[in-house]
Amino acid sequence: MKIFAPVYPVEGLVRARNCASGVAQLPRAEGSLNSRGSFRAHGVAAVCVAAVSMPSRNAHSGPSRAGEARGDQMTKTPGASGAENPVADPRDYVQDGLILIGCSHSGRELVPECIELALANRHGLVTGATGTGKTVTLQVLAEGFSAAGVPVFAADIKGDLSGIAVKGDPSPKLVARAEEIGLKRYGNTSFPTAFWDIFGVDGHPVRATVQEMGPLLLSRLMELTEPQEGVLNIAFRWAQDEREAGDERMSILDLKDLRSVIDEMGKRAASLRSKYGHVATSTVGVIQRRLLVLEEQATDKFFGEPALDIMDFLKVDADGHGVVNVLAAEKLMDTPRLYATFLLWLLTELFEKLPEVGDLEKPKLVFLFDEAHLLFNDAPKAVLEQVERVTRLIRSKGVGVYYVTQSPGDVPDRVSAQLGNRIQHALRAFTPKEQKAIRAAAQTFRPNPEIDTERAIQELKVGEALVSLLHDKGEPSMVQRTLIRPPMSRVGPITAEERKNLIAKDKANLEKYGQSLTRESAYERLQSRNTVGGQIKERLSKFSNLFGLKR
Ligand SMILES: Nc1ncnc2c1ncn2[C@@H]1O[C@H](COP(=O)(O)OP(=O)(O)OP(=O)(O)O)[C@@H](O)[C@H]1O
Ligand SMILES: [Mg+2]
Repeated sequence: MKIFAPVYPVEGLVRARNCASGVAQLPRAEGSLNSRGSFRAHGVAAVCVAAVSMPSRNAHSGPSRAGEARGDQMTKTPGASGAENPVADPRDYVQDGLILIGCSHSGRELVPECIELALANRHGLVTGATGTGKTVTLQVLAEGFSAAGVPVFAADIKGDLSGIAVKGDPSPKLVARAEEIGLKRYGNTSFPTAFWDIFGVDGHPVRATVQEMGPLLLSRLMELTEPQEGVLNIAFRWAQDEREAGDERMSILDLKDLRSVIDEMGKRAASLRSKYGHVATSTVGVIQRRLLVLEEQATDKFFGEPALDIMDFLKVDADGHGVVNVLAAEKLMDTPRLYATFLLWLLTELFEKLPEVGDLEKPKLVFLFDEAHLLFNDAPKAVLEQVERVTRLIRSKGVGVYYVTQSPGDVPDRVSAQLGNRIQHALRAFTPKEQKAIRAAAQTFRPNPEIDTERAIQELKVGEALVSLLHDKGEPSMVQRTLIRPPMSRVGPITAEERKNLIAKDKANLEKYGQSLTRESAYERLQSRNTVGGQIKERLSKFSNLFGLKR
């Protein structure tokens, strides 16, 4: 029997507002179901407790419960209920398609607040001022999804999400929160994690070819104007035409390739004009200078091969836990445009590579996108449209996207309207503009007659949030003031040593991505073409093509 139950000695079990299906049988009890679908035990505080009745570890005969695999890592938590259920398992927080993220109050009772796995692909939004608990909430989400067998991709802006890879400590603060929300079994463990880094230092290198990135995103990265983007488009088209005409190695893999193709465009401007349009030498000059900037930002490390196989983000470990892919984004934040462009590229790749699956029992991947406002700041219309389109369509590919930012106003309405699961941490209102933002944030929630949403947003304590999650057929639940559960993994960053060891242990990714590759591509081809011998060869080749001869 899988249930959420009270920690205090009442005979009632709490039925979660968003966990209706999590309570298959409501037991006989001195109480009644209230309008929110939760059990109100007369005169006694009933508290949500995850997995009181989950099968005990010893009784479990299945091959792969995480607790069995990592029994040594589990920590006995002292407290209200630790003695009864000494061992915690990440799957305690996942029951019948629901992930427990925290508990809210209803009078004197506590009610579990859960994300429905089947609706987790309807995306989400996590917002709040600095220091209010956003990262811990992300960690709780990532832990829950991982425990449910859903791989996660998360950008780690400050390095503190990396703690998910190691077992946490039952610090008094966390134990207090566990008790506050009546968790009967709070314990600590680690979660399977793969580290990635565009610069290849704090994780396995993530690479993409320039060609894969495409002219739209590259233009954004280089801050090109429309006419300049036009020239970049021509460069891509010309290289493609060359490949189709038989020179397959004219690929644009890295920035060196792109630079030599752009150079070539400048040289051939006159002959290309009739087919591709005008290529101004001054524009070529600007693009070259922007490329230099990219190279100086060490962006050249990102462009090249072996390119990331996006399917490597969709792994589940031997215990059936989804792997949490943590992108080291601390340094990446120094180049916010690269950060935003990279994540949009990832989303687009996922969208293009994954098959259409409709609504699944649980998502194939959950994407946690921190500092999401960077995606939208100063973004040209075409990029905004791409974000909106990808967010809308990726859902049916089984991918849930959770945008994380300080204020809900950071996300354009057309994107925001698609974010069903909402977690709002505290916002502060010092200026009229901030007050307006709070009012707007409050209005996005389905009202709860018991809560003054606008006021509550300002009163929330750290690790507490206003929560409205999708349930049943996808309608948002009434907003609830929710205490987010404490994570089982470490709150805070891992050490450099721990990171190094974890990366070294991840043999599959190390072997696949550890070393960069260079193969003959546009740079080498153009170099050889521009030698005397190369030019003769090119003429011969054109001649052969003209007469349909084999090269
Ligand atoms: N659910 C929680 N349970 C217990 N403690 C929490 C919880 N959430 C947050 N905290 C405490 O608050 C601290 C700050 O939280 P967190 O780092 O998540 O804030 P943040 O909103 O991400 O801040 P920033 O905007 O600066 O990144 C944590 O280190 C932790 O001590
Ligand atoms: Mg944070």
